[in-house]
Amino acid sequence: MTKQVKKTALSGVQPTGKPHIGNYFGAMRQFVELQNTYGGFFMIADYHALNSVQSAKDLKENIVDVALDYLAIGLDPSKATIFKQSDVSAHTELSWIFDTITTVAFLMRAHAFKDAEAKNKEISVGTFNYPMLMAADILLYDVDVVPVGADQKQHVEITRDTAEKFNRIFGETFKLPEALIMKDVGTVPGTDGQKMSKSYRNTIPLFATDDEIEKAVMSIVTDSEGGMPKNVYEIHKLFLPKEKLDQLYSEKAGKYKDLKEVLIADIKKFVTPLREKRAGLAKDKAAVIKILKDGGEKARAQAEAKMKVVRKNIGVSLY
Ligand code: ADP
Ligand code: TRP
Repeated sequence: MTKQVKKTALSGVQPTGKPHIGNYFGAMRQFVELQNTYGGFFMIADYHALNSVQSAKDLKENIVDVALDYLAIGLDPSKATIFKQSDVSAHTELSWIFDTITTVAFLMRAHAFKDAEAKNKEISVGTFNYPMLMAADILLYDVDVVPVGADQKQHVEITRDTAEKFNRIFGETFKLPEALIMKDVGTVPGTDGQKMSKSYRNTIPLFATDDEIEKAVMSIVTDSEGGMPKNVYEIHKLFLPKEKLDQLYSEKAGKYKDLKEVLIADIKKFVTPLREKRAGLAKDKAAVIKILKDGGEKARAQAEAKMKVVRKNIGVSLY
């Protein structure tokens, strides 16, 4: 009998602030579904976050926060490997190797770099090289799928291109991964109608208090067509089945305040149990830290085995 090989999924979230419902519906919800059928690696991308979080106190807190977020949404350390990037130094090592086979012109085409440049931001070398570290995150684990929101599609494409280039130069080494992007929720809009993002201050936090939910929903910008507040509808869509949603929006056409009140109630129904579960988990930080430590060891063992092959294939392995 041939051995059934379990496929592998890997994703990561940067510890840069509170997750929002866009992160959840666009990406994190899939992590929980995938952990049952895939070998799952769910990472806290702390070295990526170092490009923007440069306070030891904040970074430390943010790392534990993402671990709590992961556990609260239902990631289970007995099924999936939950770890932080900085615990596996192979990520930064492989990222350097990728730097040496990648041209500056290629990385200048990355959206994140172009956006930063358009905003005239001072761009760190770490931000410029961001896609190389992400390629290393993924390629170290022979990953089949990368569950992410639509904004990460290009990063996964860069990862594939990097794997192909490496394989061409040094021989078959890396598996080519696929991005897994949810249909319809690849990009969840924020309260202003743009992509919901921590950096745009237009979010509804995933573990929001009742007060935060009310304030965020009331601030949704209601440009409308024929009595239908599109921005409210697009967010509401995440919480109600389409039939129920369409009935509600036709019954209450033009009644923005009523619709927002229903949305508030629906978000609260969804968020309250998650928030309570997270608060319960937060009481035992030591348990959370142990999960990360154990996850780091498991990830390190696998990444090290892959690095042995990489070092041999590039020719630095002498003994
Ligand atoms: P942010 O843009 O808020 O800083 P992150 O970069 O931390 O979000 O993204 C974490 C994950 O959530 C990624 O997989 C990303 O693609 C996904 N994601 C972020 N914002 C959205 C959104 N508005 N809709 C769908 N997915 C999203
Ligand atoms: N770049 C991703 C984001 O901003 C986070 C990330 C880092 C990631 N490494 C990854 C996602 C590897 C998937 C796989 O959301």
